[in-house]
Amino acid sequence: MKMNAIQAAVRKAGKMILGAHVEKQEIHEKVGPANFVTDYDVKIQQFLIEKLSSLLPGVGFFGEEETSSNTRTVGKGYTFFIDPIDGTTNFMFDYKNSCVSVGLSMDDKIIAGWVYNPYTDQMWRAARGDGAYLNDKPLHLEDKGLEEGIMAFGAARYNEGDGIFDVLPTLFTRSLSIRNGGSAAIDLCRVASGSNVGYVEMLLQPYDYAAASVIIEEAGGCITQADGSPITLDKGCSIVAGTSKAVEEIRRIIQEKRKC
Ligand code: IPD
Ligand code: CA
Ligand code: CA
Repeated sequence: MKMNAIQAAVRKAGKMILGAHVEKQEIHEKVGPANFVTDYDVKIQQFLIEKLSSLLPGVGFFGEEETSSNTRTVGKGYTFFIDPIDGTTNFMFDYKNSCVSVGLSMDDKIIAGWVYNPYTDQMWRAARGDGAYLNDKPLHLEDKGLEEGIMAFGAARYNEGDGIFDVLPTLFTRSLSIRNGGSAAIDLCRVASGSNVGYVEMLLQPYDYAAASVIIEEAGGCITQADGSPITLDKGCSIVAGTSKAVEEIRRIIQEKRKC
């Protein structure tokens, strides 16, 4: 597997975000409130599909945007999961907290992932069985409880009513504080590198979490759905991630709220 070449392609895609200055006419609306795509999201996905197809001929693609060769299916063999810009709203408002996320699966198992934040030059990566890294630093999570760290969450206007705001008061008082960074992939990777003790979002898509899932697991963390079942790759699902202790506690808080 050409892991270094894939990583170089992800880095190059990230540099495309850095070099971009998005104009009003380059922003388009998708289905649901506050759901945007810019011409850069599409250009970067197209660049990655062309580059990654040349590195791994015959590979399938499950990308966020509508571009050629993106079938959004997971078949037998290799599939790349691409979020060309995770944190599009951040990107539109120059928040400087967005990334490129690329996961690779074999059949129905994620085997490698790369998440690159070009603003901070942080490259999180992992290959199954080979450990997780932030740039060149190996990642090993300490099993901290929720009360010992920062709890991050995701909330999207187009998923309004998903129940996230029911659990936030409890997550806030049981942790040191809560954060919403506007890029699920970065916040998930911050779990792997220890900045966040946990992360929760009630609905995400495979291209949001595929890469980060293997990075978290290889760092010694956990990622599941809110009810504890395994995450899905063929369709979206809820995501609870963190240290083992934090994940258990977050899931318990969600279950208790659902009983009310
Ligand atoms: C979104 C971001 C956001 C999360 C949303 C995602 P996008 O992805 O990751 O943090 O809360 O659910 O859809 O649209 O910026 O790629
Ligand atoms: Ca995304
Ligand atoms: Ca995106």
